[in-house]
Amino acid sequence: MLDVEKIRSDFPILNQKIYGQNLVYLDNAATTQKPAAVISKIGEIYNKYNSNIHRSVSKLGAICTEEYENARNTVCEYINAKSSRETVFTSGTTAAINLLAFSFGEKFVNQGDEIIVCESEHHSNIVPWQMLCERKKAVLKMLPFNDRGDLQEELLDELFTDRTRLLCIAQANNVLGAVNPLDRIIKKAHEKSVYVLVDGAQGIQHLKTDVTAMDCDFYVFSGHKIYAPAGIGILYGKESLLEQLPPWQGGGDMVKTVSFDKTVYADLPLKFEAGTANYVGAIGLAEALKYLNVIKLDNIHAYERKLTAYALKRISEIQGVKIYGTSENKIGIASFLIENVHHSDTGEILDKMGIAVRTGHMCANPTINHYGITGLVRASWTFYNTENEIDILCEGIEKAKKILL
Ligand code: ALA
Repeated sequence: MLDVEKIRSDFPILNQKIYGQNLVYLDNAATTQKPAAVISKIGEIYNKYNSNIHRSVSKLGAICTEEYENARNTVCEYINAKSSRETVFTSGTTAAINLLAFSFGEKFVNQGDEIIVCESEHHSNIVPWQMLCERKKAVLKMLPFNDRGDLQEELLDELFTDRTRLLCIAQANNVLGAVNPLDRIIKKAHEKSVYVLVDGAQGIQHLKTDVTAMDCDFYVFSGHKIYAPAGIGILYGKESLLEQLPPWQGGGDMVKTVSFDKTVYADLPLKFEAGTANYVGAIGLAEALKYLNVIKLDNIHAYERKLTAYALKRISEIQGVKIYGTSENKIGIASFLIENVHHSDTGEILDKMGIAVRTGHMCANPTINHYGITGLVRASWTFYNTENEIDILCEGIEKAKKILL
């Protein structure tokens, strides 16, 4: 299906030793590595046509602007947005959600209105909504998950009221790995006239994402989690909604005319892109998506499913290790604890074996609190990881047990 050895050679960083051992990079939910095509595209920009976009009259400015707007079209096609007017470049998922919390909040949220977030959300899909609710004296409600990591979607019927304005939900969860049943939940929300924001930070790199078919109102993701540079992200919104939202930040590029009497804002999507955009990141993001298009997401998905089944089976067979998050439908994540061992001790020992994982609360305190623990060790894999690397991880966990117990 996939020539993984060939794919691994596309990612230069993977081929190195850490503390004298082959790097086993299993921290992909935190950030993914970049293929040579993306790295060399960034070099090409700085070596050949770096110039400010939408401003410079020079030939270089024209090339850079064209590359930037082509990048927007590539993103648009990748997520199947209906028009490039629906695709706003931001600095990442967090900025996209903060933009929405301000702009959607200004337009649609008043005192006493309600926003629903899921218990299993990342802090970036909780805190901006808390801040909005504080500002507007609105009410933040929470949709809980069960111990497997599945949302208790049957509770939505009670949670939705005629004051509910927005439901904020991840496509896939960053700690437990659960893929949320968006089709059902979005349909249910729309039946109650509730808008839906989908946080795709952990979904887009693993799952086929068609925002038009999904019928979400807003969708956000970060470039760095999909093999693109850091500092770039996307806010997708239905055009009819984005049209109604006020801008978040003011500055250059987001205006048509400015005078001391009146400023006329630019059309979509530039209305939301104040200042010099991260055009290098945007062009790099498009290059990453083109790379994925060649490999094909269906192949990636099939490979990752097989690797996930293998990894979950292998890790769960280790005595004294408990995996948190046992949903049927999971992306490539295993968050676990060795019984009676602190998560950061396990992480440090794995690191000394060249195995990169993340430990702690994973920017999701409510998820961790749900289980009454202080943190977890998280291994997360993607299509350039192998069963052999999972075996090395399992040997590492066994060694950590011997050292720490
Ligand atoms: N959101 C990233 C993670 O889950 C940083 O690790």
